Amino acid sequence: MKLFALLLMLYTASALTIIDSPLASSCLYYFKDFNWGCGGTGQGHAMYKCRCFNVDWLGSVLNCMATQGKNQAQITHAWKHLRTRCLQKAHTDYLVEEISAWSKNATSFMKAPTAADKKVLVTHPLSVDAQSFAIFSRSFKEVSHHVFKSQWFGWGLVFNCAAIITALTIMNISKRFFHVSLVPRRTRIFIQKRLFPEVKIWGFSGLTRLDVIIMSLFTVQAVLSTALSYNVQTPNMYMKDPYFLTLDLIGYRSGIIAFSLMPIVFILGLRNNPFCFLTGLPQCTFITYHKFVSIVMAIEAMIHSGVWTAYAIRSGGYALWAVDDYWRWGIVGTTLVYIMLFQSLSFIRNFMYDLFVASHKILGWLFIVSMWYHCDILGWMGWVYSIIALTVYDRLVRCWKIFALNRGFIPSQIELINEDTLAITIPKTQVYNSVYKPGHHLYLNFFHRSIWYKCFQSHPFSVVASPIKSQDEVTVYIRVKKGVTKCLSKLKVGEKGTIQLWLLIEGPYGNSIDTYKNTDAIAGIAGGLGICSLLPVLYKNPSKSILFWAISKIDDLESFQSELEYLIEHGADIRVFLKKNDSDESSSFMEEKCKYLSVSNTRYDIAEWIEEAQVLASATNKTDLHVLTCGPILMDRKIGDIVYKKMSANDEVALHYHPKNYMW
Ligand SMILES: Cc1cc2nc3c(=O)[nH]c(=O)nc-3n(C[C@H](O)[C@H](O)[C@H](O)COP(=O)(O)OP(=O)(O)OC[C@H]3O[C@@H](n4cnc5c(N)ncnc54)[C@H](O)[C@@H]3O)c2cc1C
Ligand SMILES: *[C@@H]1O[C@H](CO)[C@@H](O)[C@H](O)[C@H]1NC(C)=O
Repeated sequence: MKLFALLLMLYTASALTIIDSPLASSCLYYFKDFNWGCGGTGQGHAMYKCRCFNVDWLGSVLNCMATQGKNQAQITHAWKHLRTRCLQKAHTDYLVEEISAWSKNATSFMKAPTAADKKVLVTHPLSVDAQSFAIFSRSFKEVSHHVFKSQWFGWGLVFNCAAIITALTIMNISKRFFHVSLVPRRTRIFIQKRLFPEVKIWGFSGLTRLDVIIMSLFTVQAVLSTALSYNVQTPNMYMKDPYFLTLDLIGYRSGIIAFSLMPIVFILGLRNNPFCFLTGLPQCTFITYHKFVSIVMAIEAMIHSGVWTAYAIRSGGYALWAVDDYWRWGIVGTTLVYIMLFQSLSFIRNFMYDLFVASHKILGWLFIVSMWYHCDILGWMGWVYSIIALTVYDRLVRCWKIFALNRGFIPSQIELINEDTLAITIPKTQVYNSVYKPGHHLYLNFFHRSIWYKCFQSHPFSVVASPIKSQDEVTVYIRVKKGVTKCLSKLKVGEKGTIQLWLLIEGPYGNSIDTYKNTDAIAGIAGGLGICSLLPVLYKNPSKSILFWAISKIDDLESFQSELEYLIEHGADIRVFLKKNDSDESSSFMEEKCKYLSVSNTRYDIAEWIEEAQVLASATNKTDLHVLTCGPILMDRKIGDIVYKKMSANDEVALHYHPKNYMW
């Protein structure tokens, strides 16, 4: 039974590798129609079991290869193909010397084929009739050219992504290292105003117009690559029925394109995505594209699966095909892709984020396994190796960051600042100052006995290196959410008012802060703990900055009071806004004490803040005003809308918008 399954697998597998050697395939198909005493003209295993032992047939096929082949390399490859076929289907392995001897011997017995040879048993090698062979030669050349072309269409999509990344990298390098912008100022403002505002499409959030344009162009390219340039003529001797031929060609095209997109999907989803560093864009941007490219890939995979399923059913043998391992693994792979897409829908993802991350990774690994077994006998393994390499690379870099740069497990303590804010003080390692730059973030794993099952989760947090605290340590402020942060806040507090636990620190991640010139002004707008992402910029440029900070609890101000006072001392303009809450008495006391705090129960007007920053910037002769925001995502979006609406090429102070909320 097992042997039967194996044989069947080999049978269908070699049917798929038809494009391996067009020369061999056309010779094999040309001669299968003659009567070699095997009782049929099929391409099945029974036929080969007979033909592969017929020296006349061998002589004819070899002569065909020798006379129709263009060069020795092509002929040698065709020999190899014949050998594999007879090995797979007839279990006979020829030696190269044998093949060469048959080929030579046949020349002295060669006769031209006649119509009768198809009916009466042939007992001598047949030569090739150029006229009737032409159609076989054309058929297989066209089919393998189709597959070759499909591969180039796949590469076309990859090259397009590479071109976009390269352009962004050049712009980033010239801006960051040489402080030159490749785009003139007015054009830049125009581009920002026209292309950067967010588009509201149902089901998608956070896409800029530029994103939508790029995605649309990519989609158009993918559709055209899948649908155009089917130049195989009929009749085709590989598949005489045009219906099956079409299915076959679509199957190849969509499958190969889906495969070419795999490494793009993987690299965009990596934590150590090298493009973040190269282009200076945040990881959340690439996560957006990760989702987008995987949707395109999933559609191609679905076409591929659908077409082959239809093929198998219509060719009367779904049961026959479906026993093959590669077939089953193909089904597994397509199914996994759709499960992963489904679980990434935001309402499912945000329902239990930790479960989403864990299962997404496991499904991703299973997907690699499924693609391995789908292709190990069909070819195209290079694409599978590439996704394995990417996954391994990411893991290695992560381990290196944890154990080499951040010295593995470190004992640590969490301070409970209030019921929904925690702070962790982390001692700097020796290499800290050379690898971490202001603006970087890190990932933490928490090890504590009573929440041991959460230790595999790795969560991103901003690093705050306060200039008024010890220079040997940094702080991470954590807002309590629903998952591991909630568990941390519930842990039993020790005598010193802190929680002892072990940490794994992974970093640095993200991009360091931009440098600002003396003609730049900065307006930071933060909500709650979002201030942690703006602090590195403010510490570096206090005299250029104005900060508007909206908080919902007076506790937040208390945690950062000394930081803000430091900034004020160094020339920053600070405004803190607290929503009035009747039950909170300390707020009026604080309002007395801190001149920069205003408590009110009316909604604050963000547009007014920005106008104020603009007036201030123009009064101090600045040329550019950078609006940096980090708060709840809806607040950031609103600010983006306001800034882009205000932006104008005629402004004496040019506006720029930099959202710093990198959540995805
Ligand atoms: C670059 C960056 C910097 C951040 N800096 C800070 C900071 O300084 N202080 C702070 O309080 N928060 C920060 N966050 C947010 C913080 O990572 C999440 O609030 C935290 O992971 C929530 O953990 P939880 O298990 O309680 O979340 P849950 O309540 O389970 O999930 C809440 C949301 O948090 C996000 N989230 C959860 N786990 C992860 C994860 N492993 N990776 C990415 N996102 C996740 C998801 O969007 C999820 O919907 C930052 C996030 C990013 C991306
Ligand atoms: C040479 O070819 C003839 C005709 O195909 C065949 O009968 C004969 O056995 C071959 N001899 C060898 C040594 O293969």
